[in-house]
Amino acid sequence: MRTTTGINSRVAIEREANVGIVWIDNPPVNALNTEVRAGLWSAVESLRQDVGIEAIVLACRGRTFVAGADIGEFALPAKEPTLPVVIAALEAIGKPTIAVIHGTAFGGGLELTLGCDYRIATPDARLGLPEVRLGFIPGAGGTVRLPYLIGGLAALPMVVTGQPISSDEALALGLVDAIAAADTLVEDAIAFIRRVLVGGGKPCPVRERREQIGKTDPTLFEQEAALLTSRSGSLVAASAGVEALRNAIALPFDEALNIERETFETLKASEQSKALRHVFFAERAAAKVEGVDHDVPVRPVESVGIVGGGTMGTGIAMAFANAGLPVVLLDLNAAALAQARARLDQNYQASVTRGSLTEAQKRERLDRISLSVTYDALSTCDLVIEAAFEDMDVKKEIFSKLDRIAKPGAILATNTSYLDVNEIASATERPGDVAGAHFFSPANVMKLMEIVRGARTAPDVLMTLVELGRKIGKVPVVVGVCRGFVGNRMLAARGAESMNLLLEGASPQEVDKAFTSFGWPMGPFEMQDLAGLDISWRNRKALGQTLPLADDLCELGRFGQKTGRGYYLYEAGSRVPKPDPELATLIETKSKDMGIARRRIDPEEIIERTLYPMINEGVRILKEGIASRSSDIDLIWIHGYGFPVAKGGPMFWAETEGMSKIVVGLRHWHKKTGRDIFRPAS
Ligand code: COA
Repeated sequence: MRTTTGINSRVAIEREANVGIVWIDNPPVNALNTEVRAGLWSAVESLRQDVGIEAIVLACRGRTFVAGADIGEFALPAKEPTLPVVIAALEAIGKPTIAVIHGTAFGGGLELTLGCDYRIATPDARLGLPEVRLGFIPGAGGTVRLPYLIGGLAALPMVVTGQPISSDEALALGLVDAIAAADTLVEDAIAFIRRVLVGGGKPCPVRERREQIGKTDPTLFEQEAALLTSRSGSLVAASAGVEALRNAIALPFDEALNIERETFETLKASEQSKALRHVFFAERAAAKVEGVDHDVPVRPVESVGIVGGGTMGTGIAMAFANAGLPVVLLDLNAAALAQARARLDQNYQASVTRGSLTEAQKRERLDRISLSVTYDALSTCDLVIEAAFEDMDVKKEIFSKLDRIAKPGAILATNTSYLDVNEIASATERPGDVAGAHFFSPANVMKLMEIVRGARTAPDVLMTLVELGRKIGKVPVVVGVCRGFVGNRMLAARGAESMNLLLEGASPQEVDKAFTSFGWPMGPFEMQDLAGLDISWRNRKALGQTLPLADDLCELGRFGQKTGRGYYLYEAGSRVPKPDPELATLIETKSKDMGIARRRIDPEEIIERTLYPMINEGVRILKEGIASRSSDIDLIWIHGYGFPVAKGGPMFWAETEGMSKIVVGLRHWHKKTGRDIFRPAS
């Protein structure tokens, strides 16, 4: 007979003859908060003293094993018992122990399992140390016990990239000892630990297993470490993780453990970590749509139609096909479809060449995308996304056709970057089913999905798009209707000013350098050369707008990389931007013609004059309710435009700098330039 004793509200002990099962129950993800740690510590102490108990099983209720320490508690001083103390007690219990893993054993969760002698996992479980993504390193022995168990080389990618591994990989590495089906997991764990008892097995704590770590090849380790850290951007935690592993290899166990904890504490308090934790919670908050019940039933989406086989349409088609959904891609005629097919093939081939996709996977994904020239082919789709030319009349015509053929309940979305979603919806008899689904180029890579809520968009349409976005690996953010929505509206505020900087004395390379030093992957001019200058030129012309210098470049046929010249010069076949003396002359002449005196412009001014107007626009957007939260704006900029994630997004960065400093800066530039983009939002 089994008996259960509650230790506290989150931890209980179930006794099954001579085996004690410690249950953690802290929904939704069994995060190790103070209550759980206190319960675990008491449970371990009680089972240690219980002479009737000979072995211990550690398991979790709910949808997952422990998914990590409670990130929400990191802003406060750690309360006793800390996780290292709990794990040390578990490790020293003197009776065989086994952790039972389903769902995810992440961060502190994985570290907790390393305090046990054995681990058993379900086939779909994932194990990882994602701390680096939150700006710190594991602080409860992860960088020491993990390499003790699986060797320094195998531990390296887990610590430096934070990428989890599957239970099969974990089994192969020796991180788990057995795999068992979810419905018999705990029973199998009990049977496993009883076999250990029958075999007379004495517990062998991980801290005493130096065999694997001793085999770590130092040259290979350093080579691999250099490669992985070089790919980690400017994350301090990535190189700190390598250093912690070096300590585990070179130093006695306790010494390495103490240094790990000190580093963890230091990094946890760093600006980078605060920013990354902000992003973690921002992503979760964005899944909640203001004014919409989180539990509203979503519409099933099992097939997707795309109208328009251009760069955006094919990118969006790939995003869905990559996630396993069948896609129908529609374009005007066979020639356009042939181009779309070639584009798809080329994009997938690039992944095969890079080694990130096999030939068979490429074929499988391409097979999921069928091409058509007739709207009828979209009549069975649950969602249709229009990705046609950015012109209101074109879009309205498409939507009136979709209205006629789409099945009842189908969601009709537009990928417009600027246009009024309400006007597009008015072309249909079902505006409640219409929303914006704004992807960012390349749509199969960039994670942002701006979901635009029209005045009449139904709540379940919004929730369906949010859930679907998450399912295909995007970061969906719901925004309201205005020209350019959140991202492009803020970008416009920045764009005009980068051009003014050139006219006043900066070179494209100076502006771009200031951006990359700030942490952007590339500056605005290199970016425009990559995207093609002609697109926004055409857009401006359609709206009767002009932009000095940018227009001049386009009139000279300087469209960027595709023509070998833009803000930079590109040698044949090369994508490396080189300064162009001809452009320097062109800019100087333009400044002269416009009566602008050129001067030296330092990087601080470049950052202030480009970022401050963006932040100012962000404040206006919040005041108008176009974005529901400032953290939504941060996500849009991180996932759609490459704002450095380690700075937490433009609005978080502004708070870190101090909003008053930004306002003083805006007033200063407003006075100096007279430009409205610097007028502080009241
Ligand atoms: N600490 C505190 N809260 C956490 C958490 C953690 N380690 N992990 C998840 N949560 C919360 C989320 O904020 C969310 O809360 P909400 O519903 O109030 O918004 C809830 O748990 C569910 O998380 P969510 O990410 O929406 O669920 P999911 O099923 O998509 O993913 C995980 C589950 C575990 C894969 C994912 O939450 C995750 O990766 N968590 C972080 C793990 C981590 O970094 N651990 C190391 C910390 S040291």
